[in-house]
Amino acid sequence: MKYCFNAAAAAALALSIAALVAGNPASAQDKSPPPPTSQTAAAEQNWWKNAVIYEIYPRSFQDSNGDGIGDLNGIIQRLDYLASLGIDAIWLTPIYPSPQVDFGYDISDYENIDPQYGTLADFDHLIAEANKRHIRVIMDMVMNHSSDKHKWFLESRSSRTNPYRDWYVWRDGKGQTATDKGAPPNNWQSLFGHSAWEWDQNTRQYYYHKFYAQQPDFNWNNPKIHQAFKNIVAFWLKRGVAGFRFDAIITLFEDPKLTDEDVLKDKDGKTFTNAYGDISLGDARTNNLPGVHSVMAEMRAAADKFNSPKFPGTRIFIGETYLPNIAELEKQYGTTAHPEFHLPMNTQIGFINKLDVAAFHAKLDDAEQHLNGHIPLLVFDNHDNPRLETRYGDGVHDTDIQRVVSTILFASRGASLFYYGDEIGMKTTPPLRKEDVKDPIGVIGWPKEKGRDGERTPMQWDTTANAGFTKAGVTPWLPVPPTYAAVNVKAGLTGTDLLYGWYQALIRLKKTIPSLTNGDQTMLDAANTKVLSWMQRAPGAKPVVVALNFTAEPQTVNLSVPGAGTGVKALLKTPGASDPSSLTAIKLGPFGVFVGEVQ
Ligand code: NOJ
Repeated sequence: MKYCFNAAAAAALALSIAALVAGNPASAQDKSPPPPTSQTAAAEQNWWKNAVIYEIYPRSFQDSNGDGIGDLNGIIQRLDYLASLGIDAIWLTPIYPSPQVDFGYDISDYENIDPQYGTLADFDHLIAEANKRHIRVIMDMVMNHSSDKHKWFLESRSSRTNPYRDWYVWRDGKGQTATDKGAPPNNWQSLFGHSAWEWDQNTRQYYYHKFYAQQPDFNWNNPKIHQAFKNIVAFWLKRGVAGFRFDAIITLFEDPKLTDEDVLKDKDGKTFTNAYGDISLGDARTNNLPGVHSVMAEMRAAADKFNSPKFPGTRIFIGETYLPNIAELEKQYGTTAHPEFHLPMNTQIGFINKLDVAAFHAKLDDAEQHLNGHIPLLVFDNHDNPRLETRYGDGVHDTDIQRVVSTILFASRGASLFYYGDEIGMKTTPPLRKEDVKDPIGVIGWPKEKGRDGERTPMQWDTTANAGFTKAGVTPWLPVPPTYAAVNVKAGLTGTDLLYGWYQALIRLKKTIPSLTNGDQTMLDAANTKVLSWMQRAPGAKPVVVALNFTAEPQTVNLSVPGAGTGVKALLKTPGASDPSSLTAIKLGPFGVFVGEVQ
């Protein structure tokens, strides 16, 4: 398919941004098509470098067949809405056949669609309809583990001599005898609580699982696994997917010597326990081992061969890469000769989880200075963490604070990833009773760990029964939060809630203002502990300044920089704020935002 420039859309876009700048709620009613994304072969190749990617949790997005579970046809019904937001791509959390213990992250067939979500024909239809709207589709790819119901694991556990035995990680127990299973091979723990080793009575060995016992880890030292996943990746690339988000990728390898993890101590030298009641351990032997780099380079080389005229454009690799520092993140991009991820997630910024100017300043600087020129992928929210307002809100200025946070996401250099419902300010709604919990970690860890149901509730479309997620009278798989009466897409579109219009405007600025599209990011006003500010500047384009008040008190900042003018034109600002006359005195209300072009 071909992407073409649409002059009418560009004109409508200019108007809608102007309206938002004027703080006019009517702008949120703008129904114009999104700005053109990729028009040329070069743009097709580079689309991901400033991509706006929207994460869909398919189970919770839109139910089309009245079973209370979202599905692919539901997503198709909502593509026009997604197009109006101006996004480039959707990432779907796993939709493969699965026993759904971990809601899709336990895959029992990598080359099909779970009947709960639809069929392969529905998937092809989704790709075609999404592409018509300039939206690319990114799949989740879970290579760390499969379901224990996958045929490979069923074979593997059937006997010690089965050809698939070595596809997973099997070990004898400590002190195991002919009659006694002994203790687990070492002290490693599952991220989801308790020992990471599960005893298999049939073949009398333990298998390793970083996550649930129903998610046995693959043995990536076996070359057959490498080939199997290259085949799976090819299967989906041929169907037209624009790339993959590689799940739990840094846990692919473990220490082959099975050395115990270190027991952590607090500042008083005492051990402590986690939410599951387990003693807290380090993760040096089971996390971020170097073997992952050659695997990803190999997968990338295989995927880079796929480019078809039918589905043009670079197919990208996104990594779920929770890493402790920028140096570790930089390694995930690979080398020029052996590239790995296009966009390993930078979780070091979005999960700071408090409005701390110095911390954001340092981490944004890191992304600019220490990624060797690679493109950062910022992310603030996903299906595994409480939503934005829980982590950043103060309970009084939550919408303003979300404007602050989303401006960091979209007005920084690089690509941006956000989570369904963020654009309308959906709130975390955890279960109140243990018996209502669906996510098993919420059962294992109750009440300290309530699980992830609270951030996976159905999308709030409108004020009808079940918020438009599913038909009236149907019980959705997770309850629709009571907030839907006020927080819903329809309200966002009709201007009673400006957050949707704010997201739309930010995305459009990112796509159309050259310094925001591909400018360098220079942090400003380093000593300021109340206002975070920076400048984006692309060669030959007017610089853009961004100022964010991290406090509930008004602030004034001077953002003039040597060599740039002091005139400034507002591109976007908190509704109701007045225009600054100069860069030397930008006034910000409580949690105020200002984005302006230097004149
Ligand atoms: C990370 C996924 O985002 C999470 O939802 C899942 O439970 C684990 N990986 C295991 O696959």
